[in-house]
Amino acid sequence: MGSRAALFVLVLVLCYGLAMAVSFVGDEEWRGEKEGGEEDWRREREERERGREREETEEEEETEDWFLLQDSKDVVKTDAGEMRVVRSLGGRIVDRPMHIGFVTMEPKSLFIPQYLDSSLILFIRRGEAKIGYIYKDALAERRLKTGDVYRIPAGSAFYLVNTGEGQRLHIICSIDTSESLSLRTFQSFFIGGGSYPTSVLAGFDRETLSHAFNVSFSQLREILSRQREGPIVFVEDSRSPSVWAKFLQMKQQDRLQHLKKMVPDDFQEEPVHRQEELTWSWRKFLNSMLGKESKRKDDKGAGKSPDSYNLYDRRPDFSNNYGWSVALDESDYDPLKHSGIGVYLVNLTAGAMMAPHVNPSATEYGIVLGGSGTIQVVYPNGTSAINAKITEGDVFWVPKYFPFCQIASRTGPFEFFGFTTSARKNRPQFLVGASSILRTMLGPELAAAFGVDEERLREVVDAQQEAVILPSTWAAPPDDRKKKKMFARMPRIIKSFGNDMIMGSD
Ligand SMILES: *[C@@H]1O[C@H](CO)[C@@H](O)[C@H](O)[C@H]1NC(C)=O
Ligand SMILES: *[C@@H]1O[C@H](CO)[C@@H](O)[C@H](O)[C@H]1NC(C)=O
Ligand SMILES: *[C@@H]1O[C@H](CO)[C@@H](O)[C@H](O)[C@H]1NC(C)=O
Repeated sequence: MGSRAALFVLVLVLCYGLAMAVSFVGDEEWRGEKEGGEEDWRREREERERGREREETEEEEETEDWFLLQDSKDVVKTDAGEMRVVRSLGGRIVDRPMHIGFVTMEPKSLFIPQYLDSSLILFIRRGEAKIGYIYKDALAERRLKTGDVYRIPAGSAFYLVNTGEGQRLHIICSIDTSESLSLRTFQSFFIGGGSYPTSVLAGFDRETLSHAFNVSFSQLREILSRQREGPIVFVEDSRSPSVWAKFLQMKQQDRLQHLKKMVPDDFQEEPVHRQEELTWSWRKFLNSMLGKESKRKDDKGAGKSPDSYNLYDRRPDFSNNYGWSVALDESDYDPLKHSGIGVYLVNLTAGAMMAPHVNPSATEYGIVLGGSGTIQVVYPNGTSAINAKITEGDVFWVPKYFPFCQIASRTGPFEFFGFTTSARKNRPQFLVGASSILRTMLGPELAAAFGVDEERLREVVDAQQEAVILPSTWAAPPDDRKKKKMFARMPRIIKSFGNDMIMGSD
């Protein structure tokens, strides 16, 4: 009887859901045609035409040109190559704004390691390329040739090398801004860099970095000041002729090493996974509705509602001498799937630091539960967005893609808890430490990106033996002034979403 009632409820729920979905679509269509859509269309078209009259008065333009995207901009232009982006119109008529990028790279050039807030689908129009990118925490390298198509997800660090002998490399790519910080543009975050472009690392406070890397200021300065050639550089260069030679010489061994890490072509993999998950969870849902799966019976009156989950009972996902962290996602606790929210808890010992890292797929909200510490957040252009002291009760948030770190004060443990706006595995990407992107990507390409030789870079990148939670002998002295600054500066992070942020080439 109970299960029949449950089935009835389920059918009702499904019918209601279906009806809602249909009426929602209907509404949208109706509104799209009758109200907003046409007006947006006309207004944007008029604006465009007015703009064009202003700019090119002598030239007669056909109105059909509305369908020709002409808003093009060089986002990178160096001796070694360029990237031009044709922007989509945006607005309501465009269901999914997408920009089109054109990358041209001279022979023996490198597009230095970076990640974007948009996903790319590359098409090798002409030439040969090697792409290196972080896939499931390992470096995957692939050789691409004319006609190849390859996808780089938003938030994944990657680099591109023109491997064609004496041949220019032409790539056309889609830049899908649906996950970006601002739909109108996309933003690039450079891992390597110096004075041009600036590495996102430069936005952290120098004591913090020096402790995170476990190296001296001067070693750091050397790494973070050499590169001034722009985002696309020659890897064979009069200043450092050894880099390319070393690369050629190392290739064999490199290849062998990376062969193990190579991943199969797996565009298909995730959707299939998703589907399995979906059917699996439907079955589970049905089973639980029909009462076939009920484990705990000690909660009186809880009926078939899902169990709760205790964060403190869970074994830490990560733990070392300097602290521990727990992250709960939908694979651990099913109900999170429906809200699309993840939960985490971190406990740092006095003076310890959560290494500088990035959330590639989730915005993070944090609440300080105990102790005090410092939070540093870095803008995409490698300047500091905030460096402030936080104490019990403070709430902070960090947009996805923005590098950040938390440091416990020396007076005691620092405990914070929070939410991430993704119920799927978030896979934070660490910039510093034994499990960092820098360590994974260490090689001639990364060295060229910093404009130093590989040995020098290796010294810096390998100095820190700990991962994720790092010891730190330094901690900010208690300072009330800083706290005020945090609240004054927070709105600036928020505001920056509204601004047009163009690839960090300015
Ligand atoms: C956090 O760690 C400290 C020791 O470093 C410990 O005293 C405290 O109980 C921990 N907090 C929680 C919630 O486990
Ligand atoms: C970096 O970006 C932030 C936020 O967009 C901006 O306020 C700041 O002026 C920029 N700094 C530089 C040096 O471009
Ligand atoms: C920092 O570097 C020193 C050597 O310079 C090494 O002995 C020490 O173990 C390193 N510390 C960490 C935490 O990696």
